[in-house]
Amino acid sequence: MKNILIFLTTIGMLYTYSIDKINPVQSPDGSLTLIIDINDGQVFYSVLKNEKLIIQNSKLGIIADKFDLSEKLYIKTINQSSHNEVWTQVWGEQKEVVDNYNELLLTLSSKKNRLGMNIRFRVFNDGLGFRYELPKKYHTKTFNIIDEVTQFNFTEDSPSWWIPAYAYRRYEFLYANTLISEINRDKFSELVEYLNGPRIGPEAVQTPFTVQRSDGITIAIHEANLTNYSSMTLKANGTSSMECDLIPWSDGTKVKTGSPMLTPWRTIIVGDNPSDIVMSTLTLNLNDPNKLDDTDWIKPGKYIGLWWEMIGTNQSSWGSGPYHGATTEKVMKYIDFGSKYGFDGLLVEGWNTGWDENWCCTGEGENFDFFHPHPDFDDKAVADYASKKGIRIVGHHETGTQIDNYESQLDSAFAYCQEKGIRVVKTGYVNDGSQNIKRFGENGEIYKEWHHGQYMVEHFRKVLETAAKYQVGIVVHEPIKATGLRRTYPNMLSREGARGQEFNGFMPKDWNNKPNHTTILPFTRLLSSPMDYTPGIFNLKDYRYYSNDDRRINKDHHIPSTISKELALYVVIYAPVQMAADLPENYEGHPAFQFILDVPTDWDKSLALNGEIGQYITMARKDINSDDWYLGSITNELGREIDLNLSFLDEGVEYIATIYKDPIDGGWEDSPEEVEIVTQTFKKNSQYKIILPPGGGQAIRFQALK
Ligand code: NOJ
Ligand code: CA
Repeated sequence: MKNILIFLTTIGMLYTYSIDKINPVQSPDGSLTLIIDINDGQVFYSVLKNEKLIIQNSKLGIIADKFDLSEKLYIKTINQSSHNEVWTQVWGEQKEVVDNYNELLLTLSSKKNRLGMNIRFRVFNDGLGFRYELPKKYHTKTFNIIDEVTQFNFTEDSPSWWIPAYAYRRYEFLYANTLISEINRDKFSELVEYLNGPRIGPEAVQTPFTVQRSDGITIAIHEANLTNYSSMTLKANGTSSMECDLIPWSDGTKVKTGSPMLTPWRTIIVGDNPSDIVMSTLTLNLNDPNKLDDTDWIKPGKYIGLWWEMIGTNQSSWGSGPYHGATTEKVMKYIDFGSKYGFDGLLVEGWNTGWDENWCCTGEGENFDFFHPHPDFDDKAVADYASKKGIRIVGHHETGTQIDNYESQLDSAFAYCQEKGIRVVKTGYVNDGSQNIKRFGENGEIYKEWHHGQYMVEHFRKVLETAAKYQVGIVVHEPIKATGLRRTYPNMLSREGARGQEFNGFMPKDWNNKPNHTTILPFTRLLSSPMDYTPGIFNLKDYRYYSNDDRRINKDHHIPSTISKELALYVVIYAPVQMAADLPENYEGHPAFQFILDVPTDWDKSLALNGEIGQYITMARKDINSDDWYLGSITNELGREIDLNLSFLDEGVEYIATIYKDPIDGGWEDSPEEVEIVTQTFKKNSQYKIILPPGGGQAIRFQALK
């Protein structure tokens, strides 16, 4: 483990007398204050930012089938301590992470059943987290949590950005932007997309859930270290108050557990403005340090894929037949291209069997095999060729959510990867039904579970741990949301877990990702982790056939982006493994391809220079292996000008910048594929104006001159 402990302090103060009032706890910089109230046996918390009350009087507690720890509580002890440490990431947006907080540990007891519970709060400069802890000696060893009453009562009914929970397509939705009090499915159907299927489950949203107050203060609710628990959604009730709602098992219980038990951390990220929350490290800090003995094999990098020709251009198929994409011959051609340009990986989808059996999207295709190749894919020859050419195959495990089928092959599947030199596997869980994942009971009976309940949380962990055992990193599509586990398991590389580029591939114009989508993601989904968005499409218009065998161009498809914006996304959206998603022929000879070849995927530091949710954002990041800086700026459907002071550049260094930009009168609709490439010299504090046409972007490499 490479953590460098630079400075660590722990000052403890223990009060053992019974007490109803607790001193407020402040963040190290004093900007955030946590207030705890005990009222009539119930525990409440409030939060102030810059002395303004932002969350008030919100109840805490959990209720299990065998006991109730939400009322008749009294405090036994109060312990306050401080912590200040700097640790180093194996890979990431920044090398060093400061973990600095003031902690309050409340030891509570119930007057009703004498059971004890701790609530541990940590107040950081960028927000706070708290969790429930049930200590060791419970006489009721196993129990089911039937409710967690944690509330988040916002003091202002602010605009919020959200995607629905209990909906059919997991997290893959465009975001709704409404007041907190307006959150409900009808509103979502009216503003964003009609929600298929019967209404099941409460009115609730997924996390990270972000709100921005009228004074600019931006707050995101999420969770950290989701382990052996069900995932938290936030239930709305027509006011500005929200409540934790845990995705249930099919029998209605929320969490099947026992003592001792630690819940995930409930987190509240707080900033003075939207760009403030983008760099929050709170979620990572609330996870355990790296658990893997050896991480030298985990390498960030870039990959191409035999992918877009299925999902985007529609020229090939995953399954067998005349259009099967993953043939030995074709994969070798991709290897040649990837190796020529120094890519680290080549994703190959449709290499295995099981794609012919109705795999999508009902949860009924049952025959995926994860260690036997399709007959026209010579896996040994491909592995040898890849190794000779110095590029690794990125494996692919689409499960169709046949969890039993996948788990029964898990060890063999990852052992196969190790043997074939595969260091990264993309997994997939397509199933478009609500509460539609099969779980087999002891006698073979079938239960239907939610994608984001405890059953799946535990499955995803099993896969992550098995992959680590065989030195494989994973990129999960249709995942459980990220809650910072990449700190503990740095082989947890990336995930989709939002609407990615694929929707631009297969969805017609009116249904694909709108230009503002990628200006919402940094303030919502990306707060939780890296994303496998798969940027880099250059052929943005007239790219898709009607079908494999009807090779007329379907004019109803047009990706709402520009080449410059696609490049900027490599800087805006962080991922340690980034895909260059387009076909080799769209890159070969294209001058803008150079940016994709240059841009790193591991950074020394990252800065959100500006941004407004759903409008624009500019990120700057410094390469971990050189003195170069990179910048990405993107806008929504509106054109805009952004004045920058390049204060982030290093003192005393001159930079030659290569700027990839849209024509001033360009933009996603009229000239998405026109890109201007110019060079200019800069130094620290130079002034620079970014001009973005509608739906456009700009990407810059600042190369340090020695
Ligand atoms: C959905 C994933 O997001 C996509 O990347 C993949 O190609 C398909 N499923 C097939 O597994
Ligand atoms: Ca997906």
